[in-house]
Amino acid sequence: MKKNIIYQGDCIEILNKKIDAKSIDLVFADPPYNLSGNALKWKGNKTGGDWYMVNEDWDKMTDKEYLQFTNDWIAGCHQALKDNGSIYVSCTHHNLAEIMMVLKKLGFKINNVIIWQKTNAMPNMTKRVFTHSIEFIVWAVKGKNWKFNYEDLKKINPDKQKDGSIKQMRDVWQLPLVQGKERLRGANGRAAHPTQKPEELLRRVIIASSNKGDMVLDPFLGSGTTAFVAKKLGRDWIGIEKNETFAKLSKLRLHI
Ligand SMILES: C[S@@+](CC[C@H](N)C(=O)[O-])C[C@H]1O[C@@H](n2cnc3c(N)ncnc32)[C@H](O)[C@@H]1O
Repeated sequence: MKKNIIYQGDCIEILNKKIDAKSIDLVFADPPYNLSGNALKWKGNKTGGDWYMVNEDWDKMTDKEYLQFTNDWIAGCHQALKDNGSIYVSCTHHNLAEIMMVLKKLGFKINNVIIWQKTNAMPNMTKRVFTHSIEFIVWAVKGKNWKFNYEDLKKINPDKQKDGSIKQMRDVWQLPLVQGKERLRGANGRAAHPTQKPEELLRRVIIASSNKGDMVLDPFLGSGTTAFVAKKLGRDWIGIEKNETFAKLSKLRLHI
C-alpha cells in the first residue's frame, strides 16, 4: 500500500480499492455536513473571509442519501482500521445523529464526544436561536486496546492547575476558527477552502491516538490539514479528496 500520498477521488471507492484492510492506526474525518443550500443567506457576508458560509455542491444530499453515504464511508474506514485503531469524526448538530448511529451500528465504541468551542464564532443573524459556536468531534474505537497518550496530552494542555502544574485534558476544546497566517488563501485573497480546520485541533487528535510512524488517514482531506499536521508530528499519512482544486491545494501545502 502506498503511503504519504493524496488520492484524488471518491473516498468510498478509494477506501475499498486502495487501502489495505487493518492498515490504519487513526482516521480523522471531516465529512460534508449536508447543510449547503439550507443555510440562511447573510446579506453582507464577506464570503471567503474568516467567516465563510458553506454552500458547496459536495455538501448537498437528501436525508436518505446522506445516511447511506455516512454508512458507506464509515464502513470503509472500519475495514481499513487496525483492531486497536481510532476514528475521529468532526460534525455539528446537523449530522451528529447520523454519525453516532452509523458508528454504533458498525460496532464502534464511542469514547468521547469532544466539543470544539469556537472562540470567534460567526454571529447568529436570525436572532431566533442561540448563536452556534460549537462543533463536535466524535472519538470512536474499533476494539478494546485503543491508544490514548494521556501524559503527552497533559503536556500540551493549555489549561493548568491552580499552582501552574499540568492538567488532564478535558473534552471541551476552546480554539479559534482558522485565521491570520494559518488561513490558506487564493490569489484573490479569499479562503482557498471553506472549512479549513485549525492545526491545533488536529495536533490534539493525532497526539492523543497515534504514535510516531503510525498511519493516519483522512478520507475528506480538503485543504490538507490532517496530512500537514501528521507529517509535522512524524506520522505517515494518506489523504483522499474528491475535488480536483482542493486535492491540488493539499499537494501544494504538503509540497508533493
Ligand atoms: C468539510 S471539508 C474537509 C476540510 C478539511 N478538514 C480541511 O481542514 O481543509 C470536506 C471535504 O470533503 C470533500 N469530499 C466530499 N465528498 C467526498 C467524497 N465522497 N470523497 C472524498 N472527498 C469528498 C470535499 O471536496 C471537501 O473538500
